[in-house]
Amino acid sequence: MTKVLITGGSSGIGLETARGVARRLPDAEIWVTGRNEARLDEAVRVIRAEGAEARWFRVDFSSLADVRRLADEVSAEARGGLDVLINNAGLWHQNRRTSTDGFEDTFAVNHLAPFLLTLRLMPRLLEAGRPERRARVVTVSSRLHERPKGLDLADLADPARYEGLPVYGRTKLCNVLFANELARRLGGEPVTSNSLHPGSVRTEVTRDSFLLSLGIRIAAPFLKTAAEGAATSIRLATDPRLEGVTGGYFSDEAQLPPSDPARDQELARKLWEWSLEWVGLDPTSLASPLRNA
Ligand SMILES: NC(=O)c1ccc[n+]([C@@H]2O[C@H](COP(=O)([O-])OP(=O)(O)OC[C@H]3O[C@@H](n4cnc5c(N)ncnc54)[C@H](OP(=O)(O)O)[C@@H]3O)[C@@H](O)[C@H]2O)c1
Repeated sequence: MTKVLITGGSSGIGLETARGVARRLPDAEIWVTGRNEARLDEAVRVIRAEGAEARWFRVDFSSLADVRRLADEVSAEARGGLDVLINNAGLWHQNRRTSTDGFEDTFAVNHLAPFLLTLRLMPRLLEAGRPERRARVVTVSSRLHERPKGLDLADLADPARYEGLPVYGRTKLCNVLFANELARRLGGEPVTSNSLHPGSVRTEVTRDSFLLSLGIRIAAPFLKTAAEGAATSIRLATDPRLEGVTGGYFSDEAQLPPSDPARDQELARKLWEWSLEWVGLDPTSLASPLRNA
């Protein structure tokens, strides 16, 4: 049975990704995460209606302890291996918020949480991966990763100046840098790592801002539906023609070059090292392929 974990699978693009994966892999067991039990119950009902097995895990990505607990629970359930991890959960805040651990919250939820989760789940992904059928890590970024012209690492965790969209764009640049660095470190291992832009999609991601939410309602006819926005994630998670493709950035189901800073290998390496410190991971505790700088 193919085991697939989709973070933020309780709504929007994540839920439609789960439905699409269920249709393509009817033998799959699909696990979704979110904060709200009622939304998670409904998501599981909808995924099961597509014919796949489903269950949920509750987690708040604003807390690193909660991310560690999730990783432990999933690791215990995924004995035999985790085939696909889709790092989809993400948010945008109009005003500055601080995570449980004292980080700027957009950065904590959009970058630190998937970084920590992926590294803690790597032994299970390596267990599932085979040369002929690799395990896959798919990280949902955004075209807004192109907005920052560089990344001041010292300003990420607690930015001197808070502006919602630029801060969000920086976290989405972190997503591409992380996905690329993960691919590089995994080298010849049977686990791939790619990132993507889902398109401009009609979801609740701007729920924090009355003005942006109004803008989304007005622009609705020109935006993708959540199902359309899920297409690239679904392809990266399931398409056999992408077997072995790693370190790529995709949009509209096709691979294209990300921004210049997103291709900066030295920046990706530094972000990795800083992120290990931020989440309190000892490099020697990582699955062995990830220790190679
Ligand atoms: N919509 C777009 O136009 C667009 C464009 C580019 C990229 N993206 C990216 O696409 C991904 C999915 O976003 P979406 O548009 O589908 O938004 P959404 O409808 O708001 O869904 C976000 C998902 O993330 C989860 N989540 C948010 N904060 C969380 C936290 N602190 N802890 C745990 N889970 C949390 C939510 O769970 P709850 O049920 O707990 O809220 C929900 O399942 C995000 O990474 C976003 O940055 C979206």
